Formats: sequence, C-alpha cells, structure tokens
Amino acid sequence: MEQKKIAGEKAVEYIKDGMILGLGSGSTAYYMIRKVGELVAKGMNIKAVATSKSTEKLAKELNIPLLSIDEVEKIDLDIDGVDEIDSDFNAVKGGGGALFREKMVANLAKEVIWIMDESKLVDYIGEFPLPVEILPYGYKHTLKALRDNFLNPVLRLKDGKTFVTDNGNYIADLHIGKPININNILKTLNNITGVLEVGLFINMCDRIIVGTDKGVKVIEKK
Ligand code: A5P
Repeated sequence: MEQKKIAGEKAVEYIKDGMILGLGSGSTAYYMIRKVGELVAKGMNIKAVATSKSTEKLAKELNIPLLSIDEVEKIDLDIDGVDEIDSDFNAVKGGGGALFREKMVANLAKEVIWIMDESKLVDYIGEFPLPVEILPYGYKHTLKALRDNFLNPVLRLKDGKTFVTDNGNYIADLHIGKPININNILKTLNNITGVLEVGLFINMCDRIIVGTDKGVKVIEKK
C-alpha cells in the first residue's frame, strides 16, 4: 500500500491552478484523489471529471468540483492507475471494471500520468487477463465469438453474480497469456459485435510514477 500511496501523492505535484483533471479509479488513484481534495480545501481552483461512480463518490465527499464528460471539451491532466504496463507504456487497464470511462477520459486529456506500485511494471503485457466491456444483449454469443478466436474469455462475476459496469454492461476477462500481439488482438476484437471497449491503452501516457520500497520513480515517455 505504501508504494501506491507515494506514487499517488507524487502525481498531484503536476497539477496546476485552473486545470480540469481526469480522476482515475482504483486503489492507487484513491491516494491521489485524497491529495486533490487537500488542494481544493487549500483554495486551488480545480475541476475534475471522474472515471467511475466510486471515484465520483469519493470526489464528492472531498468537495472536489465535478464536471460530466459532456461538459468538457478537453481535460488538462488525467491521472489514473494501471493493471500491467511494459517499458513502451503499453498498458492493460480495467481490473476494477472502469476501462470504458477511463479510456474516454484519457482520450480527451492533453497529458496523461499513470501511477502504480512496481509490481505493475512488466517486460511483456498479457499475464493480467485483458478486460473487455461487452454488451449484455447477446453476451453469450459475444463470449462464443471470443472463444472461437481463442481468446479464452471468462465472464467476470462479483459475489457470485455477473459483474455489471457503471455503464450497465458486462466484462469478459481474456486469458491470453504473454506476450500478446497488440495489433492482432485489437483487430480481432474490433470485428466482434458486442465488444464495446478493450482494456488495452496504447500510446496514451506521457509519464509514469512508480512507487518502490526505495522511494518514488518518475519515468518519462521514451
Ligand atoms: C480500473 O478499471 C482499473 O483500470 C484501475 O485503474 C486499475 O485496476 C488500478 O489498479 P490499482 O487499484 O492497483 O491502482
């Protein structure tokens, strides 16, 4: 937890007065959001777009002024967590099920920072099952199409029931194994009706902040 905390707290140093922020989701983003709350309490002029309902709830508790995604044209800085990332900053996200909103917010951001503990840094992505958001309508056929393409989908459950995203959809976790061929996977998934979004985040991030036992490391995009 300490690694996540120092990474999350370091990221707020990049926030400037007047910014519109993207607030990520998950346990590392939690520490960042708490610090953003402190900046707001000190009088900094910040507004934010949340990437999940749980982040929205936390931001409201901390009195962080929120905007909806449709109220903004651009986001100045998006700060979010990841599930797995390689040295080219190709990342897998969606372990918490928030990938759709996280990607939409990241796409609008002028600058993206990902925060993490050092276990997230890998040589090749693919060990963490790749989350894809799928439409409930016809989901059994979507799962079959994923299976037919050898993507080994597992429908995500929570407390014994089908997990439902903030958008009312389901998640299929693809157990593909590493290394994955990013272009092939994206091409295949783009052709499957029922797949709404994929937890692969490519060419999006400018800087990562990694918490380690020896302190925090900031790594800029190559
Ligand atoms: C949410 O769907 C994910 O993309 C999170 O951003 C990711 O799971 C973050 O992981 P941590 O909880 O370990 O920060």
